[in-house]
Amino acid sequence: MNETASVRVFSKDGLTPLPLQDLFANEAPIEVDVGCGKGRFLLARAKEHPDINYLGIDRMLRRIRKVDRKAVRAGLTNVRLFRMEAYYAISYLIPPETVSAYYVLFPDPWPKKKHHDHRLFNERFIEALHRTLIPGGGIHVATDHLPYFDEMHARLKGAANRFEEIPAWKPAEHERTDFELLFLGSKDIGRASFIKRCD
Ligand SMILES: C[S@@+](CC[C@H](N)C(=O)[O-])C[C@H]1O[C@@H](n2cnc3c(N)ncnc32)[C@H](O)[C@@H]1O
Repeated sequence: MNETASVRVFSKDGLTPLPLQDLFANEAPIEVDVGCGKGRFLLARAKEHPDINYLGIDRMLRRIRKVDRKAVRAGLTNVRLFRMEAYYAISYLIPPETVSAYYVLFPDPWPKKKHHDHRLFNERFIEALHRTLIPGGGIHVATDHLPYFDEMHARLKGAANRFEEIPAWKPAEHERTDFELLFLGSKDIGRASFIKRCD
């Protein structure tokens, strides 16, 4: 069993992509949970899909440590974790065309207008997702903050030459994230899914 799911490896100059597939035990497809939080979704998925490798990224060390402990306790060998800023990780460390799916679930909405620049989901982020997805790979977004949902949806729709909208992915009950559970039944949740065009 792994002693830890967190990866302690370094790109030689901080800019060269990591050999992502080598960080896992096999060549299975890789799915990434961006801002994995306490890992409820990531761990449920990894348990249910041992044939898929899961990478969780979060910048909060406390959360990554918690997910790490749970993954080890559950004996999950298909989970790896980056404690890192997600845009940096995806832009610089994830090699081109290596990811089968990205999940961006309940990203911090930064509701005040003067803070919108802090939002993760901007054009540069979309470009990084596109570069690292395999053709046909998916992006799945969900949030309770409907103005942020509209913004993410519009950005992906606006990239119609790169992405095609498909019916929105919905988690199974046991896969719901911790944040989704907070809002269940009390707030509407915006969801959208897109795939990277193959042409
Ligand atoms: C609102 S929480 C949602 C967590 C989880 N996806 C859920 O739905 O329960 C947002 C998470 O994203 C992380 N986060 C926010 N911005 C980030 C960034 N730029 N890079 C990495 N993690 C980030 C936060 O630390 C936090 O754990």
